Amino acid sequence: MPKLTINGSEIQVPEGRSVLEACREHGIPVPTLCYHPALEPYGACRLCMVEVSSPPRPSRLVASCVHPCEEDAVIETDSEAVRKSRKTTIELLLAGAHNDPMLLALAEEYGVKEIRFTLPEEDLCVLCGLCVRACREIVGVGAISLINRGMARKVSTPFQIASSTCIACGTCVLICPTDAIKLKDITHFHSVHGADSEFERVYCQICDDVDLSPVVIQDVDVLVGAKVDQEADLE
Ligand code: SF4
Ligand code: FES
Repeated sequence: MPKLTINGSEIQVPEGRSVLEACREHGIPVPTLCYHPALEPYGACRLCMVEVSSPPRPSRLVASCVHPCEEDAVIETDSEAVRKSRKTTIELLLAGAHNDPMLLALAEEYGVKEIRFTLPEEDLCVLCGLCVRACREIVGVGAISLINRGMARKVSTPFQIASSTCIACGTCVLICPTDAIKLKDITHFHSVHGADSEFERVYCQICDDVDLSPVVIQDVDVLVGAKVDQEADLE
């Protein structure tokens, strides 16, 4: 049970907790984008950066969603360095998704007045990878992935052709934080996704109970609840 200090308060957390989980459990706000409690942490968006000092090492910025709680660590979640880092990250995220309400709210909170970086075309996808991981970890299908590098990086089916494994359940659509995926885009990938298509029943990989057959999921929180319940059973 490591003991650490977050924003001046000493806390003790169960072994194996990330700094972000410790913050959430103690009501300390840390913004996130690529984190989802139902999925393995990914450390991609860098919004959740916090400042960690573990004397004698100098303080450094780390992504709290993938950084473990270490004994005697001193963590600041809202220091000047943290706010500066988040401000730049928000600017970068807004470069393509410049009208996204969630990012605009963060920009307001962190005082982003102008966006120095712009993409030639609006692109709502911020490459958080949530859709890809949800498809793999919850649905157990892996129909989509992040392809290409640099500016060409994007979410797609393998070889950008119709996926033979996509079941059109809509989990990727529901989990996307910026509404970058539309169900029609996914079904377009798969020519048999017409209204009269027949699908084999597919069940959630986590709870083995939620039916993931096409377009039956109303709320991704159902899946999160299943994951949280499963973890509680294991503790
Ligand atoms: S489509 Fe949405 S969920 Fe998928 S990587 Fe892009 S922003 Fe993230
Ligand atoms: S939430 Fe931690 S890096 Fe995205």
